[in-house]
Amino acid sequence: MKKILVLNGPNLNLTGLREPGIYGNDTYESICAELKAFAEGEGLFLETFQSNHEGELIDRIHGAMGTFDGLIINAGAYSHYSYAIRDAISAVKLPCVEVHLSNIAARDAFRHTSVLSPVCSGVIFGFGKRGYSLAVRALKEMLD
Ligand code: DQA
Repeated sequence: MKKILVLNGPNLNLTGLREPGIYGNDTYESICAELKAFAEGEGLFLETFQSNHEGELIDRIHGAMGTFDGLIINAGAYSHYSYAIRDAISAVKLPCVEVHLSNIAARDAFRHTSVLSPVCSGVIFGFGKRGYSLAVRALKEMLD
C-alpha cells in the first residue's frame, strides 16, 4: 500500500476559524479526517501533520525518506519564502504536490510567488479543501 504524508504549515490548524471567507468553514481536524477516509477508499495510507514551526516541518520531510511514497504540502506563509523547506523537499526526492486552499494568484502580491513550486511535481490552489483530495488523486496516478 502506497503511503502519503500530508504536511500543513503555520496557522492551518486554525482553518475553519480564521478568515472563513477565504479558507472555508471546515476545521483542520475535519478536513484531515475526510482526507484520510478518501485516501483509504483509494487504497492508500495517509498520515497528516501540522506545525507552526519551520524546523518541525523540515524534520518530517526528512523523516518521510524511505517511509512514505509521496508528499502533499500546504506550507502556509512559509511557501512564499522558506528556502529551507524548499531544499528539504528537493533533498528527499519524493514526489510532492503543493496545495493552497485559497487562490493565491488572486490575493496579495507577496502570495503570488511560492519558492516551493519549482521543486514540487505540481501545484493545486483555489479549490478550498478539495485541493487536498485532488492532490491525493494526482499523487496516486503518479505513483501507479
Ligand atoms: C495558504 C495561502 C498562504 O498565502 C497563507 O499564508 C496561508 C494559507 C492557503 O492555503 O491558501 O496560511 O497556504
